[in-house]
Amino acid sequence: MTRKRTLTEKAFNLQYMKKYGSLMAQGNGYLGMRAAHEEAYTEQTRGMYIAGIYNKAGAAESSDLVNLPDVAGMRIKIDGTVFSLLDGEILYYTRQLDLSTGELRREILWKNREGARFHLLFQRFASKSDLHVIAAKVTITSLDKTAEVEVATGIDAQQTNFGKQHLTEEAVRVLDDRLMLGVYETTESGHKVAIAAIAEGSQEAERSFGAKNRQLLQTVKTLIDSGKPYEFEKITVLYTSLDRDLEGMGPEEASVQKAGQTAALGYNALLAASVGKWQAFWQQKQISISSAKPFDQFALDFALYHLEIMTPAHDERFSIGAKGLTGEGYKGHVFWDSEIFILPFHLFTEPETARKLLRYRYLKLEQAKDKAAWNGYEGALFPWESALSGHEETPEFAAINIRTGTRQKVASPIAEHHIVADIAYAAVQYYEHTQDEAFMAKEGVALLKETALFWISRTTEENGRLSLKDIIGPDEYTEHVDNNAFTNYMAHFNVKQALAFMARFGQEDEGFKRRAEDFLSRLYLPEANKEGLIPQDDTFLGLPQIDLEKYKKKQGSQGILLDYSRQEVNGMQILKQADVVMLLYLFPNLVSPETAIRNLEYYEAHTIHDSSLSKAIHAIVAARCNKPEMAYRFFQEACLIDLGMNPSSSDEGLHSAALGALWLTTVFGFANVSFEEDALKLDPKLPEAWTELVFPLMHRGRRLEIRLTHENIRVVKHSGPELCVKAAGQEFLLTDQLEIKAVSAQ
Ligand code: BGC
Repeated sequence: MTRKRTLTEKAFNLQYMKKYGSLMAQGNGYLGMRAAHEEAYTEQTRGMYIAGIYNKAGAAESSDLVNLPDVAGMRIKIDGTVFSLLDGEILYYTRQLDLSTGELRREILWKNREGARFHLLFQRFASKSDLHVIAAKVTITSLDKTAEVEVATGIDAQQTNFGKQHLTEEAVRVLDDRLMLGVYETTESGHKVAIAAIAEGSQEAERSFGAKNRQLLQTVKTLIDSGKPYEFEKITVLYTSLDRDLEGMGPEEASVQKAGQTAALGYNALLAASVGKWQAFWQQKQISISSAKPFDQFALDFALYHLEIMTPAHDERFSIGAKGLTGEGYKGHVFWDSEIFILPFHLFTEPETARKLLRYRYLKLEQAKDKAAWNGYEGALFPWESALSGHEETPEFAAINIRTGTRQKVASPIAEHHIVADIAYAAVQYYEHTQDEAFMAKEGVALLKETALFWISRTTEENGRLSLKDIIGPDEYTEHVDNNAFTNYMAHFNVKQALAFMARFGQEDEGFKRRAEDFLSRLYLPEANKEGLIPQDDTFLGLPQIDLEKYKKKQGSQGILLDYSRQEVNGMQILKQADVVMLLYLFPNLVSPETAIRNLEYYEAHTIHDSSLSKAIHAIVAARCNKPEMAYRFFQEACLIDLGMNPSSSDEGLHSAALGALWLTTVFGFANVSFEEDALKLDPKLPEAWTELVFPLMHRGRRLEIRLTHENIRVVKHSGPELCVKAAGQEFLLTDQLEIKAVSAQ
């Protein structure tokens, strides 16, 4: 099934340059590459990153995902003039990222100052079939005259992370008068990065090499006839000392060897191999929507493409950054975004990847235990922000207040502890849908037990009741509160599951059991009050309220912090993002439907949605609460977080969690998939505008395809054992295929 999935930029626009650099980023989970133009513009941010390659620029700094030497840049001179779209005249411009194939193409018809016209086609991709390979091709056609073309390109180590330099140049070489090799080492973490590049044109050319100021460049110069395309290909190969597929070689040798082999194949053959992998991806994981608004389909395709390229599925030592591998925002750090917002996409389409994401946490359990101990707790306290080492990576201070010159400490690593239970939740969810006994008996139980121990030691006793004090819940506009409902319920779930799974896998521990049972019976779980509201924390509902209209109009900008200090915001009923609503999303049966609606409406009215993690969660809860218009509106707004017109929304990279949440909304909101033991429950809440929704779902070894319309539910089982399906108030046994007449919510 071939469907066009193309992200198009129709005009050259300096204002959107950084944003498109993120939107059109390419990658394969091993590496990510921003869509910077080949030629230089001061407005653009070049960026290339390899999962796991972090470095600290100074002793007091936290790790940055290192911006590696650039290989995309090319300085093209035509008849002695540097090609730039800021010069001459643009007669035609279009840039397209084909999400189906991963290829980026830019086509330009350009007239130079002398009036001669040139057609330029730029193509490039990061290979999905060989994760170490990037290929680029430029085709230049002179339309009016014979012209002299010069192309200079190579490996440019002048890149920095917002000005911070992370690499020492170990060696630069040219081998066989052809292959450029740059070897670098990160200054603090000591990772080696080797980059080998071969660039060749389609006709005889004068060729020279030079290395200066951290740039290793090859320049080719040739005369091109009018009307005859000149093709120039560049193949780049990257290896690092972290790689596990070096086959006994060092990164240097591996990159040199592979560059020779791949350059011999050429751009088109390499692309075809990569496209094959992309086709398999779409065939296996695509979601198809028939909607009156075709943008819905596009937004989901965009989300799936990026979910795929942001995930280092090749190596369990790494996880997914808040901006994936598309930019340096949040320094490439890993948050709860990974387990709660992104992992389910993998769990229900390729469970093996979800397992690796959980293994990432398991491998860092010792560091989490250290953090707990340093803070006076037992068990494991996972870092709020994590990178390669597993230690806390949250920067100590927030942005400087330029009026006072002071910096405020970031409170999340000290108090945003729900990350601990989020990881436990994901481990249980993984087991529920895979029944992976081996994982649960070892990694799962270890994660659950250590996280549970943390919560048990984190409580404060007051009149016989246990509280969790001085907490930050998901809503970061209310800091240092007591009994954040989300955190308390999640902690309770965490300890309860630890107890259950330890017993199930014969790993009981009497001392732990006693303490866990005491915790479970005495931890305060805030229930709905007389007004039907679950208090977000002990004080929230008593705080003053202000009109948030002005800030809601500019949601995402954190504009409220320009008018009020953090302390002032903290003292009012203002939410940055879903908190009680987040709780309702993760525990759909916690309260009655009426109470859920009451809480959704109350808390939404007080939420600015300044976090990109907020809207889609509201969409899911609204859909389940039979509020289709509200659900669809939030979904549509969530689709615009990166894809909207705001030119600066995504300068420092895309919002990974928000992209994962679009998948969540479709499957857990609109399709309203849930599970009861081994049974699959479907109670679709399709938006009015959608006539059909088709998606794949893996559950306990079964590969399913679910097709929903407003009238029908169709479930096809491609493999795996029989399944009980609950829909339209009845139970069915699914052997191969099932068609159920169902009335949707509307
Ligand atoms: C949100 C967090 C999120 C982080 C990274 C923050 O603005 O409040 O919930 O984990 O961004 O996406």
